[in-house]
Amino acid sequence: MTEVGIPREERIRRALDHLRNDTTDEFEHVTWFEPVEFTDPEIAKLERERVFGRVPSIIIHGSEIPRAGDFVTLQLPRNNVIVVRQRDGSVKTLVNQCRHRGAMVEKEEKGRCRLFSCPYHRWSYDTDGALRTITRDNTFGDADRSERNLVQLPTEERHGFVWVVDDADATIDVADWLGPEMDSIMGSYGMDKMVTTRVQRFDEPVNWKLMQDAFLDGYHIQYAHPNTAAKHIHTNVMAFEDFGHHCRFLNLRKTIDRWIEEDPGDRSLAEHVTESHLVGPNSTLLKQPDHFQLLTFRPHRSDPQRCHMEIRLIAPTLEDSGMTEERWNRIWDKNVEILIAVLHNEDFPILRGSQVAMDSANAGNMLLGRNEVANQVFRREIQKLVGEN
Ligand code: FES
Ligand SMILES: [Fe+2]
Repeated sequence: MTEVGIPREERIRRALDHLRNDTTDEFEHVTWFEPVEFTDPEIAKLERERVFGRVPSIIIHGSEIPRAGDFVTLQLPRNNVIVVRQRDGSVKTLVNQCRHRGAMVEKEEKGRCRLFSCPYHRWSYDTDGALRTITRDNTFGDADRSERNLVQLPTEERHGFVWVVDDADATIDVADWLGPEMDSIMGSYGMDKMVTTRVQRFDEPVNWKLMQDAFLDGYHIQYAHPNTAAKHIHTNVMAFEDFGHHCRFLNLRKTIDRWIEEDPGDRSLAEHVTESHLVGPNSTLLKQPDHFQLLTFRPHRSDPQRCHMEIRLIAPTLEDSGMTEERWNRIWDKNVEILIAVLHNEDFPILRGSQVAMDSANAGNMLLGRNEVANQVFRREIQKLVGEN
């Protein structure tokens, strides 16, 4: 496997030097920002249109709909959709709205079907969205059936994930959006051979950017998570790379501490780090020694002060892992349990409080430090997209 960007061992050594010197990778400047970015319905509307309506974002891992006819339904920022595996193996994203009088065609969160049948007057659609039956067709006159198919959103499967642009009139090119670095990095991880082992969904009274920010932040660990994450991960020590729409940063685990004094020589220090990736516009991908965690944040359809968050654990299949099924299940249950405990008990209360605070009439402006590099990239890129007409 050829490495992309600066080789990992070199980045780890850079972070180790930071740890020795109490420094971290930094930007040249701090950035100021305003509370309205998290509360204003107009800004939220622009984000839905110009971010989610224009660029690809990850919606599920392909393993969640493995067989033809497997589907999930989702609320995206602009459309309610059905994501469904086709007979030829490709994936389509269909707007979940009947083309007769607009009823929601599929109510279930997930399932498998041969056709979608509308509960209202029983029109039915093939899994590719084509209208199959109009009930009492003879009374329907001269409607053009070919114009009554379910609407499709641009969809592509790449690096194991299903990506969508949330606008039927848009086009999609995931490799182009990722750019050469992030596309090769994600390609090198082999996530297309892996499966989603656990998914958790949260509906939180917090703006999606506030949530995303908390998972790009290496500075809050010892303060917000003193008895959990901070026992394992160093605070405010990052080796960081900026890839434009995306970025990557590496945090040190405390198991690296013996090499603060001692020279590690040429040995691999890879087991002593977690690597995080901002996969724009709305996901954080964490690479752990034996699996990946994907955190996705989607704005609510209309309320800037709400969002949907999803956590996915992505790992080698049971067969590839060589584990017993019981052990495999125990590991992923445990993993998700630990993760959720930290989120529920430690991150979410702070973030809910931030959202309430941001809504104060006289909330002042705020600051992103030079050390808050990934947060600066995230904000910079969203601002850029929102600013583009
Ligand atoms: S609204 Fe779907 S069949 Fe009438
Ligand atoms: Fe946190």
